[in-house]
Amino acid sequence: MTLQSKTHTATAQAHPNIAFIKYWGNQDNRLRLPANPSLSMNLGDLRTVTTVTFSADLPGDALTVNEQPVVGPGLERVTTVLDLIRQQAGLELPARIESTNNFPAGAGIASSASAFAALSLAGAAAAGLDLDEASLSRLARRGSGSASRSVPGGFCQWLTGSDESSVAVSIAPPEYWDLRDVIVVVSQEHKAIGSTGGHHLAPTSSLQAARVAGVENRLKLCREALLARDLAALGPVIEEDAVIMHGVMMTSHPPLYYWNAATMTVIHATLQWRSEGIPVYFTIDAGPNVHLICEAADAPTVAARAGQLPGVQQIITSGPGGPVRLL
Ligand code: PMV
Repeated sequence: MTLQSKTHTATAQAHPNIAFIKYWGNQDNRLRLPANPSLSMNLGDLRTVTTVTFSADLPGDALTVNEQPVVGPGLERVTTVLDLIRQQAGLELPARIESTNNFPAGAGIASSASAFAALSLAGAAAAGLDLDEASLSRLARRGSGSASRSVPGGFCQWLTGSDESSVAVSIAPPEYWDLRDVIVVVSQEHKAIGSTGGHHLAPTSSLQAARVAGVENRLKLCREALLARDLAALGPVIEEDAVIMHGVMMTSHPPLYYWNAATMTVIHATLQWRSEGIPVYFTIDAGPNVHLICEAADAPTVAARAGQLPGVQQIITSGPGGPVRLL
């Protein structure tokens, strides 16, 4: 087979996403089958671009992120996804993976979603596979659960289910609603326990079962509010869902406290701005940084005010984004 002897390369671009209804905990850690369905918005202004080159000249898989070599667990996760691709393509060649992000490294914005979405498409294309959206979403899921949601475009829902059926689907295109995520960076430190470790701890919290039991209703409300473009209905649901997830994190064994003092400052400020008539709502992933969700027209005001708060290091604003694509 020609692929065994030649060099094959492809480049893909993907956006990270912010979850409105959070994924936390797995039913199956190896397959990354989530404990609950989730819903997110792709962040169109943030991008990961990844080139995969299969070549017989390499001693093994070699990864760089923003031109820095990555070895250890980071590389192993990439190899897991590439092995699935090699298996499907009947390919045995090692790969060089070069990935760059247009958002600052260490800005506390998770790059694993965009990274594994871009890796899945670039890797599949370089291996000569023509995979449909569901197959790519499934593949990306194996690298990072939330990456399944960075494969389709716009606003995406990731379904629970079996290895076969647990994929993300788009429920509205990016142009459906001109929302903004104003990302308030309050720490650039590397997290002691990342999301993979956190998912393993989720079942140790006595609150996880209650969180999961309530997700279906919150997801329904979130989806309806999104389809109705109703921020006053969407906002309270996303805030509640984020706080419930952090309640699970803080009551895990050992507990995970991702918030710092500045996180709390931003939360209180958001409530204050809302009481003054600015429609803005917060959500927080597995870290201390706060994502402020508002309409495009309010984003400059929100960004300016957030930038004045003590402890805030950086503000990054993004609108909705499209699907993963080949470059
Ligand atoms: O995809 P992971 O394993 O990095 O987990 C993401 C977890 C959260 O960001 C906290 C929630 C989510 O749904 O994105």
